[in-house]
Amino acid sequence: MYLRCLLLAFLPLALGASPQEYFGEPSRTSPLAACPPLPPRASPPDSVYDLRVDDIKVIAALGDSITAGLGAKGIVRGDPPSFENTMEDRGVSFSMGGDPAALTLPNLIQHYRRDLVGASTGSHLAEICYGPWCPPFQYRPSDNMNAAQSGAMTSNLEYELTYLITRLRTDQAVDFENDFKLITIFIGNNDACFGCEPFSGHTYLSPELFEMAIRALLEKIRFNVPRAVVNLMMGFNVSQVWDLTHDDPYCSKLRNSGLVFECTCAFLSPILRTLMDTLIQSYNDRLASIMKSYQNRQDPGFAVIVDPLLKNIRIQDWTLEHLSNVDCFHPAVQAHEVLAKGVWYNLFRSSEDKLNVVAPDDELPIWCPTNESRIMMT
Ligand SMILES: *[C@@H]1O[C@H](CO)[C@@H](O)[C@H](O)[C@H]1NC(C)=O
Ligand SMILES: *[C@@H]1O[C@H](CO)[C@@H](O)[C@H](O)[C@H]1NC(C)=O
Repeated sequence: MYLRCLLLAFLPLALGASPQEYFGEPSRTSPLAACPPLPPRASPPDSVYDLRVDDIKVIAALGDSITAGLGAKGIVRGDPPSFENTMEDRGVSFSMGGDPAALTLPNLIQHYRRDLVGASTGSHLAEICYGPWCPPFQYRPSDNMNAAQSGAMTSNLEYELTYLITRLRTDQAVDFENDFKLITIFIGNNDACFGCEPFSGHTYLSPELFEMAIRALLEKIRFNVPRAVVNLMMGFNVSQVWDLTHDDPYCSKLRNSGLVFECTCAFLSPILRTLMDTLIQSYNDRLASIMKSYQNRQDPGFAVIVDPLLKNIRIQDWTLEHLSNVDCFHPAVQAHEVLAKGVWYNLFRSSEDKLNVVAPDDELPIWCPTNESRIMMT
Protein backbone atom coordinates (compact mmCIF):
# COMPACT_ATOMS: atom_id res chain seq x y z
CA MET A 1 0.00 0.00 0.00
CA TYR A 2 2.74 2.36 0.95
CA LEU A 3 4.69 1.60 -2.18
CA ARG A 4 1.72 2.53 -4.28
CA CYS A 5 1.51 5.79 -2.43
CA LEU A 6 5.20 6.45 -2.99
CA LEU A 7 5.08 5.80 -6.68
CA LEU A 8 2.37 8.39 -7.00
CA ALA A 9 4.36 10.64 -4.79
CA PHE A 10 7.41 10.77 -6.99
CA LEU A 11 5.61 11.99 -10.09
CA PRO A 12 5.49 15.72 -9.39
CA LEU A 13 9.27 15.88 -9.05
CA ALA A 14 9.49 15.26 -12.74
CA LEU A 15 7.09 18.14 -13.24
CA GLY A 16 9.59 20.54 -11.80
CA ALA A 17 8.67 21.04 -8.16
CA SER A 18 11.77 21.98 -6.23
CA PRO A 19 12.56 20.76 -2.72
CA GLN A 20 14.08 24.20 -2.15
CA GLU A 21 10.57 25.59 -1.80
CA TYR A 22 10.16 23.68 1.40
CA PHE A 23 13.09 25.02 3.36
CA GLY A 24 12.13 26.20 6.82
CA GLU A 25 11.52 29.83 7.46
CA PRO A 26 13.26 31.45 10.44
CA SER A 27 10.71 32.47 13.04
CA ARG A 28 12.06 32.64 16.58
CA THR A 29 15.03 33.79 18.53
CA SER A 30 17.02 31.10 20.33
CA PRO A 31 15.12 29.65 23.28
CA LEU A 32 18.49 29.72 25.04
CA ALA A 33 18.79 33.49 24.64
CA ALA A 34 18.32 33.90 28.39
CA CYS A 35 21.08 31.42 29.25
CA PRO A 36 24.49 32.91 30.06
CA PRO A 37 27.28 31.94 27.65
CA LEU A 38 29.81 29.37 28.84
CA PRO A 39 33.35 30.70 29.18
CA PRO A 40 35.75 28.33 27.38
CA ARG A 41 37.08 25.59 29.62
CA ALA A 42 40.65 25.80 30.79
CA SER A 43 41.77 22.56 29.18
CA PRO A 44 40.02 20.32 26.67
CA PRO A 45 38.56 17.01 27.86
CA ASP A 46 40.45 13.83 27.13
CA SER A 47 37.55 11.47 27.72
CA VAL A 48 33.94 11.16 26.62
CA TYR A 49 33.14 10.86 30.32
CA ASP A 50 34.04 14.53 30.86
CA LEU A 51 32.06 16.35 28.17
CA ARG A 52 30.51 19.77 28.38
CA VAL A 53 27.95 20.44 25.71
CA ASP A 54 30.33 22.80 23.89
CA ASP A 55 32.84 19.97 23.58
CA ILE A 56 30.57 18.29 21.05
CA LYS A 57 31.72 19.13 17.55
CA VAL A 58 29.64 16.68 15.52
CA ILE A 59 25.98 15.72 15.84
CA ALA A 60 24.75 12.62 14.02
CA ALA A 61 21.87 10.14 14.07
CA LEU A 62 20.67 6.76 12.91
CA GLY A 63 16.97 5.98 12.88
CA ASP A 64 13.69 5.89 11.02
CA SER A 65 11.09 8.30 9.69
CA ILE A 66 10.74 10.11 13.02
CA THR A 67 14.40 11.12 12.97
CA ALA A 68 13.99 11.96 9.28
CA GLY A 69 11.14 14.33 10.20
CA LEU A 70 8.66 12.63 7.87
CA GLY A 71 5.51 14.71 7.53
CA ALA A 72 6.51 17.03 10.39
CA LYS A 73 5.32 20.17 8.65
CA GLY A 74 2.12 18.52 7.51
CA ILE A 75 0.45 18.83 4.17
CA VAL A 76 1.97 21.72 2.31
CA ARG A 77 -0.61 21.82 -0.42
CA GLY A 78 -3.19 19.55 -1.99
CA ASP A 79 -4.92 16.51 -0.63
CA PRO A 80 -3.33 13.15 0.02
CA PRO A 81 -1.87 11.31 -1.70
CA SER A 82 0.60 13.63 -3.32
CA PHE A 83 4.20 14.66 -3.57
CA GLU A 84 4.10 16.94 -0.55
CA ASN A 85 2.72 14.25 1.66
CA THR A 86 5.83 12.17 1.68
CA MET A 87 8.25 14.97 2.45
CA GLU A 88 10.87 14.45 5.10
CA ASP A 89 11.18 17.74 6.96
CA ARG A 90 14.66 16.96 8.18
CA GLY A 91 15.37 20.56 9.13
CA VAL A 92 12.94 20.33 12.07
CA SER A 93 13.70 16.78 13.28
CA PHE A 94 13.99 16.88 17.08
CA SER A 95 17.38 15.21 17.18
CA MET A 96 18.94 16.44 13.94
CA GLY A 97 17.16 19.51 12.56
CA GLY A 98 19.29 22.49 11.66
CA ASP A 99 16.83 24.88 10.04
CA PRO A 100 17.29 28.43 11.31
CA ALA A 101 15.42 28.98 14.60
CA ALA A 102 13.94 25.46 14.71
CA LEU A 103 13.76 24.19 18.29
CA THR A 104 15.96 21.11 17.90
CA LEU A 105 18.84 19.43 19.69
CA PRO A 106 21.49 20.63 17.18
CA ASN A 107 20.30 24.23 17.42
CA LEU A 108 20.37 24.07 21.22
CA ILE A 109 23.92 22.70 21.16
CA GLN A 110 24.93 25.24 18.56
CA HIS A 111 24.08 28.02 20.97
CA TYR A 112 27.24 26.92 22.83
CA ARG A 113 29.22 25.57 19.92
CA ARG A 114 29.01 27.79 16.84
CA ASP A 115 30.91 25.43 14.57
CA LEU A 116 28.78 22.36 15.32
CA VAL A 117 28.75 20.07 12.28
CA GLY A 118 26.17 17.54 11.15
CA ALA A 119 22.61 18.90 11.39
CA SER A 120 20.22 18.19 8.52
CA THR A 121 18.32 21.00 6.84
CA GLY A 122 15.30 21.63 4.66
CA SER A 123 12.82 19.12 3.27
CA HIS A 124 12.80 16.63 0.44
CA LEU A 125 11.04 13.52 -0.77
CA ALA A 126 11.19 10.55 1.55
CA GLU A 127 14.19 8.26 1.41
CA ILE A 128 12.83 4.78 1.93
CA CYS A 129 14.80 1.93 3.41
CA TYR A 130 12.46 -0.75 4.71
CA GLY A 131 14.19 -4.01 5.53
CA PRO A 132 15.29 -5.68 2.28
CA TRP A 133 13.63 -2.90 0.24
CA CYS A 134 16.43 -0.40 0.57
CA PRO A 135 17.59 1.17 -2.70
CA PRO A 136 21.04 2.80 -2.50
CA PHE A 137 22.05 6.37 -3.39
CA GLN A 138 19.11 8.09 -1.76
CA TYR A 139 21.03 10.35 0.61
CA ARG A 140 21.14 14.07 -0.27
CA PRO A 141 23.86 16.51 0.76
CA SER A 142 21.40 18.34 3.05
CA ASP A 143 20.92 15.14 5.08
CA ASN A 144 24.40 15.79 6.38
CA MET A 145 25.03 13.42 9.32
CA ASN A 146 21.34 12.50 9.68
CA ALA A 147 21.58 8.97 8.35
CA ALA A 148 17.98 8.07 9.27
CA GLN A 149 15.86 6.51 6.53
CA SER A 150 12.07 6.37 6.49
CA GLY A 151 10.85 2.85 7.11
CA ALA A 152 14.12 1.73 8.65
CA MET A 153 14.18 -1.30 10.88
CA THR A 154 16.93 -2.43 13.22
CA SER A 155 18.42 -4.49 10.39
CA ASN A 156 18.94 -1.31 8.35
CA LEU A 157 21.16 0.42 10.90
CA GLU A 158 24.35 -1.12 9.51
CA TYR A 159 23.59 0.42 6.14
CA GLU A 160 22.96 3.78 7.78
CA LEU A 161 26.16 3.54 9.78
CA THR A 162 28.19 2.86 6.65
CA TYR A 163 26.87 6.09 5.17
CA LEU A 164 27.59 7.96 8.38
CA ILE A 165 31.17 6.74 8.68
CA THR A 166 31.91 7.75 5.09
CA ARG A 167 30.38 11.14 5.73
CA LEU A 168 32.41 11.62 8.94
CA ARG A 169 35.62 10.60 7.22
CA THR A 170 35.18 12.84 4.20
CA ASP A 171 33.74 16.04 5.69
CA GLN A 172 36.47 18.70 5.64
CA ALA A 173 35.00 20.31 8.75
CA VAL A 174 35.43 17.15 10.82
CA ASP A 175 38.64 16.11 12.51
CA PHE A 176 37.72 12.44 12.47
CA GLU A 177 40.17 11.30 15.15
CA ASN A 178 39.83 14.16 17.60
CA ASP A 179 36.37 15.69 17.42
CA PHE A 180 33.79 14.53 19.95
CA LYS A 181 30.64 13.16 18.32
CA LEU A 182 27.13 12.71 19.69
CA ILE A 183 25.13 10.05 17.83
CA THR A 184 21.42 9.65 18.61
CA ILE A 185 19.88 6.29 17.70
CA PHE A 186 16.12 5.85 17.68
CA ILE A 187 14.87 2.59 16.18
CA GLY A 188 12.43 -0.26 16.82
CA ASN A 189 8.99 1.09 15.90
CA ASN A 190 9.05 -0.41 12.43
CA ASP A 191 10.26 -3.74 13.76
CA ALA A 192 7.29 -3.82 16.12
CA CYS A 193 4.85 -2.82 13.36
CA PHE A 194 6.34 -5.06 10.70
CA GLY A 195 5.75 -8.22 12.71
CA CYS A 196 2.00 -7.84 12.32
CA GLU A 197 2.15 -7.72 8.52
CA PRO A 198 0.79 -10.99 7.06
CA PHE A 199 3.63 -11.12 4.50
CA SER A 200 6.19 -11.07 7.32
CA GLY A 201 4.76 -14.41 8.45
CA HIS A 202 3.85 -12.65 11.70
CA THR A 203 7.44 -12.80 12.83
CA TYR A 204 8.31 -10.04 15.23
CA LEU A 205 11.93 -9.18 15.91
CA SER A 206 12.51 -10.79 19.29
CA PRO A 207 14.02 -8.77 22.14
CA GLU A 208 17.02 -11.17 22.05
CA LEU A 209 17.71 -10.47 18.39
CA PHE A 210 17.10 -6.76 18.91
CA GLU A 211 19.69 -6.69 21.67
CA MET A 212 22.21 -8.65 19.60
CA ALA A 213 21.77 -6.32 16.64
CA ILE A 214 22.17 -3.18 18.74
CA ARG A 215 25.21 -4.56 20.52
CA ALA A 216 26.85 -5.49 17.21
CA LEU A 217 26.13 -2.03 15.87
CA LEU A 218 27.57 -0.32 18.94
CA GLU A 219 30.74 -2.39 18.69
CA LYS A 220 31.07 -1.34 15.08
CA ILE A 221 30.78 2.29 16.12
CA ARG A 222 33.28 1.79 18.94
CA PHE A 223 35.85 0.27 16.56
CA ASN A 224 35.31 2.73 13.73
CA VAL A 225 34.33 6.09 15.18
CA PRO A 226 36.77 7.65 17.65
CA ARG A 227 35.43 9.77 20.51
CA ALA A 228 31.75 8.97 20.18
CA VAL A 229 28.86 9.14 22.62
CA VAL A 230 25.80 7.19 21.56
CA ASN A 231 22.42 8.27 22.94
CA LEU A 232 19.91 5.42 22.55
CA MET A 233 16.31 6.62 22.61
CA MET A 234 13.86 4.28 24.28
CA GLY A 235 10.65 3.58 22.37
CA PHE A 236 7.05 4.34 23.29
CA ASN A 237 3.74 2.46 23.17
CA VAL A 238 2.89 2.99 19.54
CA SER A 239 -0.70 1.85 20.04
CA GLN A 240 -1.42 5.14 21.80
CA VAL A 241 -1.40 6.88 18.46
CA TRP A 242 -4.48 4.79 17.71
CA ASP A 243 -6.11 5.89 20.97
CA LEU A 244 -5.59 9.52 20.06
CA THR A 245 -6.74 9.30 16.46
CA HIS A 246 -9.30 6.55 15.89
CA ASP A 247 -12.34 8.69 16.74
CA ASP A 248 -11.23 11.57 14.60
CA PRO A 249 -13.15 11.71 11.29
CA TYR A 250 -10.21 13.10 9.32
CA CYS A 251 -7.82 10.42 10.59
CA SER A 252 -10.31 7.60 10.10
CA LYS A 253 -10.92 8.68 6.54
CA LEU A 254 -7.20 8.83 5.87
CA ARG A 255 -6.65 5.41 7.39
CA ASN A 256 -9.54 3.85 5.49
CA SER A 257 -8.15 5.20 2.25
CA GLY A 258 -5.30 2.69 2.59
CA LEU A 259 -2.88 5.29 1.30
CA VAL A 260 -0.88 5.78 4.44
CA PHE A 261 1.50 3.37 6.07
CA GLU A 262 1.27 3.49 9.79
CA CYS A 263 1.11 0.18 11.50
CA THR A 264 -2.49 -0.19 10.35
CA CYS A 265 -2.66 -3.95 10.73
CA ALA A 266 -1.63 -3.79 14.36
CA PHE A 267 -3.97 -0.90 15.06
CA LEU A 268 -7.00 -2.89 14.03
CA SER A 269 -6.65 -5.57 16.69
CA PRO A 270 -6.52 -4.91 20.45
CA ILE A 271 -4.44 -8.05 20.94
CA LEU A 272 -1.84 -6.97 18.41
CA ARG A 273 -1.74 -3.47 19.88
CA THR A 274 -0.84 -4.87 23.30
CA LEU A 275 1.64 -7.29 21.77
CA MET A 276 3.38 -4.43 19.99
CA ASP A 277 3.57 -2.28 23.11
CA THR A 278 4.89 -5.16 25.19
CA LEU A 279 7.53 -5.84 22.57
CA ILE A 280 8.70 -2.23 22.53
CA GLN A 281 8.91 -2.16 26.32
CA SER A 282 11.04 -5.33 26.15
CA TYR A 283 13.33 -3.58 23.67
CA ASN A 284 13.59 -0.75 26.20
CA ASP A 285 14.69 -3.16 28.94
CA ARG A 286 17.38 -4.47 26.59
CA LEU A 287 18.64 -0.96 25.91
CA ALA A 288 18.99 -0.35 29.65
CA SER A 289 21.09 -3.46 30.11
CA ILE A 290 23.27 -2.58 27.12
CA MET A 291 24.01 0.79 28.71
CA LYS A 292 25.11 -0.93 31.93
CA SER A 293 27.68 -3.07 30.19
CA TYR A 294 29.29 -0.06 28.52
CA GLN A 295 29.38 1.87 31.78
CA ASN A 296 31.42 -0.91 33.33
CA ARG A 297 34.05 -0.46 30.64
CA GLN A 298 34.72 3.28 31.16
CA ASP A 299 36.30 3.53 27.71
CA PRO A 300 37.54 7.13 27.31
CA GLY A 301 36.76 7.00 23.59
CA PHE A 302 33.26 5.55 23.63
CA ALA A 303 30.18 5.76 25.83
CA VAL A 304 26.57 4.70 25.59
CA ILE A 305 23.69 6.45 27.30
CA VAL A 306 19.99 5.66 27.18
CA ASP A 307 17.29 8.31 27.05
CA PRO A 308 13.97 7.09 28.53
CA LEU A 309 12.09 10.27 27.58
CA LEU A 310 9.44 8.43 25.54
CA LYS A 311 9.17 5.29 27.64
CA ASN A 312 6.06 6.25 29.60
CA ILE A 313 4.73 8.92 27.31
CA ARG A 314 0.93 9.08 27.07
CA ILE A 315 0.13 10.15 23.55
CA GLN A 316 -3.58 9.90 24.23
CA ASP A 317 -3.11 13.02 26.41
CA TRP A 318 -1.59 14.97 23.53
CA THR A 319 -3.64 16.70 20.84
CA LEU A 320 -4.02 16.07 17.14
CA GLU A 321 -1.96 19.20 16.46
CA HIS A 322 1.03 17.19 17.60
CA LEU A 323 0.56 14.64 14.85
CA SER A 324 1.19 15.17 11.18
CA ASN A 325 -1.95 15.68 9.10
CA VAL A 326 -0.15 13.77 6.38
CA ASP A 327 -0.87 10.46 8.11
CA CYS A 328 -2.20 11.08 11.65
CA PHE A 329 0.82 9.14 12.82
CA HIS A 330 4.14 10.93 12.61
CA PRO A 331 5.04 13.72 15.03
CA ALA A 332 4.35 17.24 13.83
CA VAL A 333 6.75 20.14 14.40
CA GLN A 334 5.08 20.91 17.74
CA ALA A 335 5.88 17.40 18.97
CA HIS A 336 9.45 17.52 17.66
CA GLU A 337 9.93 20.70 19.71
CA VAL A 338 8.72 19.06 22.91
CA LEU A 339 11.01 16.10 22.27
CA ALA A 340 14.00 18.36 21.57
CA LYS A 341 13.55 20.13 24.90
CA GLY A 342 13.23 16.80 26.69
CA VAL A 343 16.28 15.23 25.08
CA TRP A 344 18.33 18.33 25.85
CA TYR A 345 17.18 18.29 29.49
CA ASN A 346 17.93 14.58 29.87
CA LEU A 347 21.47 14.89 28.48
CA PHE A 348 22.49 16.66 31.67
CA ARG A 349 20.91 14.16 34.05
CA SER A 350 21.90 10.73 35.27
CA SER A 351 19.66 7.75 34.51
CA GLU A 352 17.69 7.96 37.71
CA ASP A 353 17.03 11.70 37.28
CA LYS A 354 16.09 11.65 33.60
CA LEU A 355 12.50 12.32 32.59
CA ASN A 356 10.81 9.16 31.34
CA VAL A 357 7.67 10.93 30.25
CA VAL A 358 6.98 14.30 28.72
CA ALA A 359 3.76 16.09 27.84
CA PRO A 360 3.22 19.15 25.67
CA ASP A 361 1.74 21.15 28.54
CA ASP A 362 4.61 20.41 30.91
CA GLU A 363 6.13 23.81 30.09
CA LEU A 364 9.52 22.21 30.46
CA PRO A 365 11.97 25.05 31.06
CA ILE A 366 14.93 25.22 28.74
CA TRP A 367 17.82 24.02 30.82
CA CYS A 368 20.82 26.38 31.00
CA PRO A 369 24.08 24.47 31.45
CA THR A 370 26.79 25.92 33.69
CA ASN A 371 30.56 25.50 33.76
CA GLU A 372 30.14 22.37 35.80
CA SER A 373 27.40 20.76 33.72
CA ARG A 374 28.52 17.57 32.04
CA ILE A 375 26.73 15.20 29.70
CA MET A 376 25.85 12.47 32.14
CA MET A 377 27.11 9.02 31.28
CA THR A 378 25.69 7.21 34.29
C1 LIG B 1 2.68 0.30 27.52
O1 LIG B 1 2.14 -0.95 27.17
C2 LIG B 1 2.40 -1.99 28.11
C3 LIG B 1 1.80 -3.26 27.51
O2 LIG B 1 0.44 -3.13 27.30
C4 LIG B 1 1.81 -1.61 29.45
O3 LIG B 1 2.14 -2.60 30.40
C5 LIG B 1 2.34 -0.26 29.91
O4 LIG B 1 1.71 0.15 31.10
C6 LIG B 1 2.10 0.78 28.82
N1 LIG B 1 2.71 2.05 29.22
C7 LIG B 1 2.06 3.20 29.14
C8 LIG B 1 2.77 4.42 29.59
O5 LIG B 1 0.93 3.28 28.71
C1 LIG C 1 32.53 29.73 34.82
O1 LIG C 1 33.90 29.83 35.16
C2 LIG C 1 34.41 31.13 35.06
C3 LIG C 1 35.92 31.10 35.29
O2 LIG C 1 36.28 30.08 36.16
C4 LIG C 1 33.70 32.03 36.05
O3 LIG C 1 34.18 33.36 35.95
C5 LIG C 1 32.21 32.02 35.73
O4 LIG C 1 31.49 32.75 36.69
C6 LIG C 1 31.68 30.60 35.70
N1 LIG C 1 30.32 30.64 35.17
C7 LIG C 1 29.37 29.81 35.56
C8 LIG C 1 28.07 29.98 34.90
O5 LIG C 1 29.55 28.95 36.40
